[in-house]
Amino acid sequence: MLDFRGLARLLEERGELYRISRPVDPEYEMAAVMEQIDRQRRAFLFENVIGARFPVIGGLLNRIECFGWALGSKPGEPFDANDLDARFEAAKRNPIAPREVPTAPVKEVVRRGAQIDLPDIPVPTFFELDSGPFITSACGISRNPQTGQLNVGVYRSLILGPDTLAVNASSLSDLRKFYQHAEQRGKAMPVALAIGVEPALQMAAACKLPPEQSELDLAGGLQGRPIDLVKCETSDLLVPANAEMIIEVQVRFTGNIDNNLGEFAGQYGLETAPIAEVTAITHRRDAMFYSILAGRNPEHNTLGSIATFSIRRALIGALRSQLTGIVDIDVFLEPRMGAMAHIVMSIRKQSDAEPMLLIEAAYKATGGFFPVSHITKRIIVVDEDVNVHDLVDVEWAMYTRIARADKYRVIPDVQSWELERCAKEGTGSLRLAIDATKDVEDIEELRRPVIPGADEIRLADYLQKKS
Ligand SMILES: Cc1cc2nc3c(=O)[nH]c(=O)nc-3n(C[C@H](O)[C@H](O)[C@H](O)COP(=O)(O)O)c2cc1C
Repeated sequence: MLDFRGLARLLEERGELYRISRPVDPEYEMAAVMEQIDRQRRAFLFENVIGARFPVIGGLLNRIECFGWALGSKPGEPFDANDLDARFEAAKRNPIAPREVPTAPVKEVVRRGAQIDLPDIPVPTFFELDSGPFITSACGISRNPQTGQLNVGVYRSLILGPDTLAVNASSLSDLRKFYQHAEQRGKAMPVALAIGVEPALQMAAACKLPPEQSELDLAGGLQGRPIDLVKCETSDLLVPANAEMIIEVQVRFTGNIDNNLGEFAGQYGLETAPIAEVTAITHRRDAMFYSILAGRNPEHNTLGSIATFSIRRALIGALRSQLTGIVDIDVFLEPRMGAMAHIVMSIRKQSDAEPMLLIEAAYKATGGFFPVSHITKRIIVVDEDVNVHDLVDVEWAMYTRIARADKYRVIPDVQSWELERCAKEGTGSLRLAIDATKDVEDIEELRRPVIPGADEIRLADYLQKKS
């Protein structure tokens, strides 16, 4: 297992981390360079950010393979999204609780009062319409007011002044519920932002868990040893001892501020968040500031995809249990394809009416976390000879098996979840229903060319050298 610095070291040894010593402006220039490097799936270390005290590192988790290395797989060993999903499920079954330690690298420097100065930290401004500089990598730690349990999520934070910022909690987050609880009671609420933490914790924080499960236990399970925690300076929260930096804040609910940022699905996402006051900053003596390039870019998308695993699993489970006749099913819910799901189901059809009836039933199904219709933009039904897990095969079916116009339907005025930013107030958005099966009358004529006996052939038997 690799910690934050261990992963950075591995990438550098492999020649996959670029050091940039030339001075860069944290407003736009740094983001533009980050974009080019992130798209090459490489990591970066800006050693000289104008006006800042710390270097900026990032691009460490911009492909699933890097998640695998952090979790103990060796370079060269295959590790894909299914492997990562399996590691998450195993860690959920075998969580390891964190342990509290008395001292910590992240306490090497402690700043309070007049020593707090957020502009010291090289926080980039990414896109032209962003509200300002955003911390994007921070794991926000808070307490569930009902259970007292520590909660962790990745939340973007907008820098507002030398000692003020706004930690953004979307309406889907647990943190939003904690905010509401504290605000209703007229109480301030502590949050700690941990920057540059163990990769296992960074991944667990991005994962959507039910409130009774702990991201810290999950992270321990993922890395096979507990996360070390240490007390905050100005609250009763516990924070990762090995982080690069901790920003402790009190959310005072004295006012809300709009924050606009280019989001993972390739759109701006205007949100509003309460203003928070920084009460302490602690960091390693040679701390690096970890920044994730926001927007529809590899690191944000790869980390963001972790949250989709459980939603995808819930959708597949719900549809399999509520509908009959599905031979195979896949749900594509990938940030790089936007914030909406695309469902493909294959069937062994008996009549031409069947596919549309199945699609109607699927849109009506309850989807686990969200109703299917809220987060699904398109449902496609294909014949059983089409590979539902291969979108190219599905497209092939759409362009070779549909001739009647009524096999495409547009369903208007469906309510969406908030991440479908193009949905209209009141009327919502459209949904697509596509029947890409062969018409019954074409079943024989449109047969796929198949080589008889091909399934039984083992290529290895034909490639053996004569002795
Ligand atoms: C880079 C990145 C930025 C994110 N920004 C936010 C954010 O600003 N607000 C939010 O609520 N969720 C954000 N998320 C998603 C949450 O981290 C994720 O849904 C998490 O499960 C929320 O935790 P919670 O429900 O325990 O509060 C972000 C995820 C990533 C990977």
